[in-house]
Amino acid sequence: MTAATAHSVPIPHSDEQIPVIGFGSGTSWQWKKKASESTAVSADKPSNVDPDLVQSIVDALETGFSHVDTAEFYTTRPDVGQAVNDYLKKHPEKKRSDVFVTDKYNSHPPDTPNVLADGSIRGPYASLKQGLQLMKLDYIDLFLLHTADTPDGLSLEDAWREMIRLRDEGLVKNIGVSNFDVPHLQQLQKATSVLPQVLQLEFHPYLQNQSPGVHEFCRNNNILIEAYGPLVPITKAKEGPLIPLLAELTAKYGVSETQILLKWAHSFGVVTVTTSSKIERMKDILGVFDLELSAEDLKKITDVGNSWFFRAFAIPPLPTWDEQLKKERNVLNI
Ligand SMILES: NC(=O)c1ccc[n+]([C@@H]2O[C@H](COP(=O)([O-])OP(=O)(O)OC[C@H]3O[C@@H](n4cnc5c(N)ncnc54)[C@H](OP(=O)(O)O)[C@@H]3O)[C@@H](O)[C@H]2O)c1
Repeated sequence: MTAATAHSVPIPHSDEQIPVIGFGSGTSWQWKKKASESTAVSADKPSNVDPDLVQSIVDALETGFSHVDTAEFYTTRPDVGQAVNDYLKKHPEKKRSDVFVTDKYNSHPPDTPNVLADGSIRGPYASLKQGLQLMKLDYIDLFLLHTADTPDGLSLEDAWREMIRLRDEGLVKNIGVSNFDVPHLQQLQKATSVLPQVLQLEFHPYLQNQSPGVHEFCRNNNILIEAYGPLVPITKAKEGPLIPLLAELTAKYGVSETQILLKWAHSFGVVTVTTSSKIERMKDILGVFDLELSAEDLKKITDVGNSWFFRAFAIPPLPTWDEQLKKERNVLNI
C-alpha cells in the first residue's frame, strides 16, 4: 500500500514547505472573469475582482486548502489577494505564513504593454512588484516564469536573473518555472548556475512526461514537480481508456475518481494543483490525504495511462515533442 499523503513537502534549496494540493484560479475562472465587463481587468480597472471567484477561494481556504495558485495571465491576482486578506482578517489566529501563494510572470498578459514608461521591458521584476500591489501582499511564496517565452527585448536568461533578484530581495521566497522543457532548463543553468526550485507542468496518466526527459532531469537536479491538470482523464479526456479502471477502483476503495487520480500523482512525489467551484468537491479533494492505494493498482493506472496520449494544454513549444513522447512511454516505471 502507498503511505498516506503528507500535507506538505520540503521545497528544494529552502527551509520552506509547500502544501501538496494547490487551489487553482485559472481553469474556467479566468475565462469567466475575462468575459464580463463588470469583472474583467483593464488599464483603468486593474484591481477588478469577480466576487464569485473571491468567495470560492475563501470557501477553499475555509474548507482546508492552504495553497492558492494565480498568474498574471489569468488576471486573478486581485481576486486571490482579496480572498487571502479577507480570510486572514476573519481568522486572527492565522498568519500570512499559513497560506501559500503561487504567482506567475507571463510574457504577454492581457491588456499589458511590455514597454514601460522609462522605455525598459516589463520583466518578472516589474510584474511581481505590480502583482504585490494588486494582491495587497508583502511577498509571494513561489513565483514562476509561466512559460519559456519572453517579450521582445528581454532574453530568457535576463528574465531568470530578475527572478533571482526577486528572491535575493525577499519579495518572493522561492522561484521556479512552468512548462519548461529540458533545453530551456539547461539554458537557465548555463547562464546563471541557478536552477528553478519548482517546475509546474501538466501531469496525469495520459501525459506522464510533458516533454522528453523532464521528470528525469528534475529528479537528478533536485527540482520539485508541481502537476496541473491532474484530473484531465475525467474532464477533458473522458474518451480515454482509464474510465473502466477508474470505475473499478472507485468501487473497490469507496472513493471518488478525483481522489484516485490525485493519489496517483502524489505517489510520484509531486505536488498537485487542482480546483473546483463546488464546496462538496473541495472537501472530496482534501479527502485524498486519508487514501492509500495498493502498488498494483497504482501500476495499473500508470500502464493504462501509458497506452494512450493526451495533452490538454498545447503551450509552445511543447507540442513539438508529441511524436517523440508517443514513442517514449513508460518513463515513470523505470
Ligand atoms: N502553469 C500552467 O500553464 C497551468 C495550466 C493549467 C492550469 N494551471 C493551474 O492549475 C489549476 C488547475 O488546473 P486544471 O483545471 O487543469 O485542473 P484539474 O484538476 O485537472 O481540473 C479541475 C477542473 O475539473 C473539474 N472537475 C472536478 N471534478 C470533476 C468531476 N468529477 N467531473 C467533471 N469535472 C470535474 C472542476 O470543475 P468544477 O468547478 O465543476 O468542480 C475544475 O474545473 C488552474 O486553475 C491553474 O491555477 C496552470
